[in-house]
Amino acid sequence: MSHGRFNNPLVAALAGFKDLFRKQEFSDRLTDDDRFDDKTCLVTGANSGLGFAVAVEMAKRGAKVICTCRRLQEETLQKIKALSGSENVEVRTLDLSSLDSIHAFIDGMEKDKVLLDSVILNAGVALPKARETESGQEEMFLVNYLSNVMLCTLLLNRKVVNRNSDSKDIKPRFLFISSDSHQESSFIDYDEFGKYIDYGVKKGISHYSYYKLVLNTYATELSRQLNKDRIEVGVNVICPGPVHSNIIKEAPLALRLMLGAIFKVIFRSPKKAALPVVYMSVSPDYEGRTNEYQHMFKSKKMDEKIYLPEEGKKLWERSYELWQSIDDKAEELAL
Ligand SMILES: NC(=O)c1ccc[n+]([C@@H]2O[C@H](COP(=O)([O-])OP(=O)(O)OC[C@H]3O[C@@H](n4cnc5c(N)ncnc54)[C@H](OP(=O)(O)O)[C@@H]3O)[C@@H](O)[C@H]2O)c1
Repeated sequence: MSHGRFNNPLVAALAGFKDLFRKQEFSDRLTDDDRFDDKTCLVTGANSGLGFAVAVEMAKRGAKVICTCRRLQEETLQKIKALSGSENVEVRTLDLSSLDSIHAFIDGMEKDKVLLDSVILNAGVALPKARETESGQEEMFLVNYLSNVMLCTLLLNRKVVNRNSDSKDIKPRFLFISSDSHQESSFIDYDEFGKYIDYGVKKGISHYSYYKLVLNTYATELSRQLNKDRIEVGVNVICPGPVHSNIIKEAPLALRLMLGAIFKVIFRSPKKAALPVVYMSVSPDYEGRTNEYQHMFKSKKMDEKIYLPEEGKKLWERSYELWQSIDDKAEELAL
């Protein structure tokens, strides 16, 4: 069964292209002079594409940047330092398809007493075919969705993100990197939730979009759970628009060549796509704001199913149940 709006990556790419012509009302809100010297930011998947560009842009603007990569750590570190002119950058190992790697990363952050102002959950894959992880899930489900539930929970529970910060005005933030292709995906299918479903090349893009709807539904519920009486943590979502990145690196060769040409000619550079991400994750304009969605520099609504409280509650319960069933170090979010 198809869950996402698109069954064809070419149609999805052309829809992304059309989006580039929509009005971007906040595009002048982040100026070249804006600096974020007092911020500590985490960027997942920082060795490539959007994550790399966000890390460079943040470091250039004075933030301390903690980058995570599953590979190319030293090369990434040197490149970000060189391009940003900042030494205030570090790289840590994190493979989001491995539960052990997630726990080791969190243990390291806690041991080093890191305190984050902003978490950018950027890492993601677009797989043409299902692939099973060591813990038995479909890789795109684990990397693009469930690992983010784990990261947010563990970062909050270990106080690497401190939701009880003393400052009345400055609250930590989570920013989920999603995709507008999530719009019009199906309701979440709990019969197959977290199960390994062996889909083929034609369903890859459909699953990708659907998992982004699942991710956005979790982000909305996380915002609800954390901000019951007052805003303690900003939890927002962005689609960076069509970006000329390595996201199609696993596509079959013919498709990769065709899409690669489209990406090169008409998609935006990661450097340009990084600007609205930097804006939402550290700009003072977003202080005290939560449960908002931007499509590049445009404020927008996500798919309406995402805002249904009963959908959020069910996803919340089922996600933590699933985590507990596959990981003996699973935790509930301490509220
Ligand atoms: N490109 C677009 O047009 C577009 C549009 C909308 C949304 N997005 C979203 O933007 C985000 C960034 O993607 P991108 O376009 O910049 O693609 P990209 O160049 O392929 O970057 C993806 C990053 O995620 C990392 N990643 C993949 N699997 C991982 C794993 N198991 N553990 C840790 N890191 C992993 C990659 O690391 P490796 O290099 O090691 O694989 C890479 O650093 C994604 O969430 C994507 O869904 C992209």
